[in-house]
Amino acid sequence: MTQKHKVGSAVLGIDIGGSGIKGAPVDIATGALLAERVKLETPQPATPEAVAQTVQELVAHFSWQGPIGCTFPAIVHHGVTLSAANVDKSWIGASAQQILADAVGQPLLLLNDADAAGLAEVTFGAAKGVAGTVIVLTLGTGIGSALIVDGRLVPNTEFGHLQLKGAAAEKYCSAKIKDEQDLKWKEYAQRLNEYLNHVELLFSPDLIIIGGGISRKHEKFLPELKLRARVLPAALRNDAGIVGAALAVAHAGMC
Ligand code: BGC
Repeated sequence: MTQKHKVGSAVLGIDIGGSGIKGAPVDIATGALLAERVKLETPQPATPEAVAQTVQELVAHFSWQGPIGCTFPAIVHHGVTLSAANVDKSWIGASAQQILADAVGQPLLLLNDADAAGLAEVTFGAAKGVAGTVIVLTLGTGIGSALIVDGRLVPNTEFGHLQLKGAAAEKYCSAKIKDEQDLKWKEYAQRLNEYLNHVELLFSPDLIIIGGGISRKHEKFLPELKLRARVLPAALRNDAGIVGAALAVAHAGMC
């Protein structure tokens, strides 16, 4: 499918993950995808140059001309990727936003993947209109986090790297660890409960939102959790990154 889009309330959202790079044009007023989303395989090794090439292919697929929002699964500080827990180490210290913008020849904003999910949830999902402190946690290969205080995102919180049992919490209770260690739902819920209690002790959130692919099965583990805070599954599942990336562009005044 090839189609032209005019610059307006539409922004191309791209979500870079360890196995796939997904994208679709997004109506930022409603959060609706304006075309079927496209997923390309993440190149291996996923070096900045190789990923930039795949992002460029995605942009070309939509014949996109206009602003682009793009997520990345690491700390993104003023366009520079500062960590690489689950991606190629060559991203550490790379001017990632510039590299991707140069590759596609369009204005492009890069942000952390969980921060994008947080923006999507606070604008259109489970955190919409919620006052106080909201923490969105995405359980996947790692654990991503977004901290939202009275509707405003505090970026790059990295709560998946809080220390638990002598290591990063994401090594104890990410969805990948559940699979790798073949944990039953009950065991997994116990681990998650330990982690979330720690998060609760440190931040006293009013609401915790659980996202990531595993949140599709939220009824298997959310009822087991014992927390003071309210806990809800994410409302925007697979598209949270794409929609949030597009919203970030609007927040930055790029469209
Ligand atoms: C990274 C975060 C990312 C999360 C989810 C973690 O390992 O450090 O930046 O948001 O994985 O992809």
